[in-house]
Amino acid sequence: MLQHEMISLIRQKSAVIGVIGLGYVGLPLSVEIANSGYRVIGIDVQKQKVDHINSGHNYISDVSDKELEKVVSDGYMTASNDFAEVAKCDCICICVPTPLDAHQQPDISFVVQSTENISTFLKRNTLVILESTIYPGTTEELIKPILEKSGLICGEDFYLAFSPERVDPGNPIYSTKNTPKVVGGCTPQATEVAAIFYEMVLDAPIYRVSSCSVAEMEKILENTCRNINIGLINEMTILCNRMSINIWEVIEAAKTKPYGFQAFYPGPGL
Ligand SMILES: NC(=O)c1ccc[n+]([C@@H]2O[C@H](COP(=O)([O-])OP(=O)(O)OC[C@H]3O[C@@H](n4cnc5c(N)ncnc54)[C@H](O)[C@@H]3O)[C@@H](O)[C@H]2O)c1
Repeated sequence: MLQHEMISLIRQKSAVIGVIGLGYVGLPLSVEIANSGYRVIGIDVQKQKVDHINSGHNYISDVSDKELEKVVSDGYMTASNDFAEVAKCDCICICVPTPLDAHQQPDISFVVQSTENISTFLKRNTLVILESTIYPGTTEELIKPILEKSGLICGEDFYLAFSPERVDPGNPIYSTKNTPKVVGGCTPQATEVAAIFYEMVLDAPIYRVSSCSVAEMEKILENTCRNINIGLINEMTILCNRMSINIWEVIEAAKTKPYGFQAFYPGPGL
């Protein structure tokens, strides 16, 4: 299939979308994709989650019970624990966990396992997008060779891209639907096809970058910046407590500077 044929499949909403991992990231994403008019097949290893979805029961606070019930009863969303469903999908979003292991190293076993399973059923011309948070280089160096075990060649027979997930569970303003998204593909064609897919689903700008590794690294930059600044404000809070100064008043005062300062608040996040 040529790139323009893939793009028109996406634009006409006749592409079937697979979402692998139906947790805090995958379920809200699935519901938004289904709400936009695509048929979504969610795949998860936990049978209980699959059963919940197929009976229209929500288990993620960021997802509206009514919306989930509607997309399931209207036939736009189904769930399964059978990876053979991948063969029906034109686009696949991987949203499986990447926790730290006992040595504080990223545990990418869930990403590897799910990609191996996808590879078994991958069909020609599929778009695969990794959304899990991983270290820079993962998409090209780890995911691509696993998918190529299918006998298909990345860039010739399938599209591969990385697009970091930014969902902030419980955020009352920003959700999956209205958070800008960054996309970087293994080829310019993959970047474009993936960006068009997200443009069809989200109400937010889609920012294209030149490679998967730029997209992977920008996510690390976002997370590092946030963690360092939460750590800083927590240290500052300890200092303020010792000096009987109100940290909240200090932050409000600092916020009056129109450049060079972004407010972070003390909390248990770090
Ligand atoms: N939750 C957040 O706030 C957030 C924000 C940004 C990025 N992320 C990243 O997104 C990714 C997913 O996070 P999450 O919070 O949704 O995790 P989660 O634990 O809520 O959900 C992951 C789901 O994947 C399923 N799963 C595990 N292995 C699988 C496999 N081999 N095949 C199919 N399904 C499998 C699990 O059963 C689970 O339902 C992680 O890399 C995380 O770092 C999370």
